[in-house]
Amino acid sequence: MIFIFLGPPGSGKGTQAKRLTALRGWPQLSTGDMLRANIQAGTSLGLEAKKLMDQGSLVPDAVVVGMIQDRIQNSDCVNGFILDGFPRTVVQAEALGNLLASKSLAVSRVFEFLIPDEELIARLTGRRTCTKCSAMFHILSAPPRVPGVCDRCQSDLEQRKDDSVEVISKRLKVYHDQTSPLVQYYSKKGILTTLDAVASMDIVEKTILASL
Ligand code: AP5
Repeated sequence: MIFIFLGPPGSGKGTQAKRLTALRGWPQLSTGDMLRANIQAGTSLGLEAKKLMDQGSLVPDAVVVGMIQDRIQNSDCVNGFILDGFPRTVVQAEALGNLLASKSLAVSRVFEFLIPDEELIARLTGRRTCTKCSAMFHILSAPPRVPGVCDRCQSDLEQRKDDSVEVISKRLKVYHDQTSPLVQYYSKKGILTTLDAVASMDIVEKTILASL
């Protein structure tokens, strides 16, 4: 099974991808996480991507398509995977379709996380991520037991640099301009399921599981 989690920044794609991975074992393929790993490792790709990510712009299509092309060769993808934050443009969606078709595969279902922009500012400014294990928290809706410390591995939590109000506004504009056309793109293919992403994390999870 191959799933796409499509939605604006902060809509809960990463949260639900991690839950589905834990429940069903399909790996989460997050292009955002892959790019941040490159930044952390100081690769030239990471250095180039950092400038764009810090200002809320998209990284070039060829870069993210190449990363996904490499990642899906891994043996853990053989029974399927969850694409979190990819594709983000029609060019990426077309490239993904071609890539999968060359392996006689196709996207099984696209989940659109529908949520008003106003909700997203609070979600993103309150998000905290573990510097070591990437576990995710929210200072109000999913707080860690000890403020600033990861429940799982006791490492420090940090706020993402692109989670400032200014950069969030830019990311939302980029989503509406460049990514939202994918809703129609996948709807026309008859594989789109729209979720109410304002609902609690447990309700969103139940809705996804019920649609599988
Ligand atoms: P990326 O890392 O993919 O960020 P994003 O899409 O902007 O998504 P987020 O990770 O911010 O949010 P999310 O929907 O996963 O929400 P989450 O579950 O964390 O991309 C970052 C950058 O990398 C991009 O701007 C771009 O520059 C580049 N990039 C990445 N992919 C690219 C691509 N394909 N092409 C080009 N460039 C690319 O939840 C957010 C918060 O809300 C958390 O604190 C969580 O606890 C809380 N929360 C989640 N669900 C709920 C709920 N139901 N109720 C209450 N709170 C909730």
